[in-house]
Amino acid sequence: MTDDPFALFDAWYAEARETEINDSNAVALATVDAQGCPAVRMVLLKGHGPEGFVFYTNRQSRKADDIGANANVALLFHWKSLRRQIRIEGAVTQVSDAESDAYFASRGRDSRLGAWASDQSRPLDARETFEARFAEMEARFAGGDVPRPPHWGGYRVAPERIEFWQDRAHRLHERRLFTRTAGGGWNEGLLYP
Ligand SMILES: Cc1cc2nc3c(=O)[nH]c(=O)nc-3n(C[C@H](O)[C@H](O)[C@H](O)COP(=O)(O)O)c2cc1C
Repeated sequence: MTDDPFALFDAWYAEARETEINDSNAVALATVDAQGCPAVRMVLLKGHGPEGFVFYTNRQSRKADDIGANANVALLFHWKSLRRQIRIEGAVTQVSDAESDAYFASRGRDSRLGAWASDQSRPLDARETFEARFAEMEARFAGGDVPRPPHWGGYRVAPERIEFWQDRAHRLHERRLFTRTAGGGWNEGLLYP
């Protein structure tokens, strides 16, 4: 058994990619606003490694406002096919412009146009308004590249705590908790289920 939580994450994630019917990279992201009220929504994991777990979004969205008020967030993977969950907690930082540019460039053209057209989390009077904005963006960037909008980019969650939960018979589930030490290593222990 490994004592490296990133290696364990890689192993579980690889299995999830084989067994989940879709979106094995879907992860719930919990944030807290300036009043201390929590909110949670799904995002897609687009990168991970010892520096942290990366997702991309609109930096003027509700989640981004929350992160601006409180950088502490939580991520939750639940892979039903494996009966496993992974809980990750830590503070977020913005990924570099170069990294966001590289990921944005890898997206399909319509997704890139959608990032320009969507005023994410703001009220929308009618679906047609959004479609009209999308058409405007198609015209604006017709025949050319669609660059990353300045309000769109990535966030990286630097984990302080990672917990691996595995279903076991008779609800005697297994929980392995890794907590970051002051020296940057990891303490490992078990939790009662
Ligand atoms: C499976 C799934 C994956 C999603 N992935 C993303 C994502 O990577 N980035 C994103 O901004 N929204 C994503 N969404 C939409 C978000 O859940 C959410 O509706 C949106 O980001 C607005 O959230 P906010 O108003 O709390 O900021 C995804 C939704 C689902 C169901």
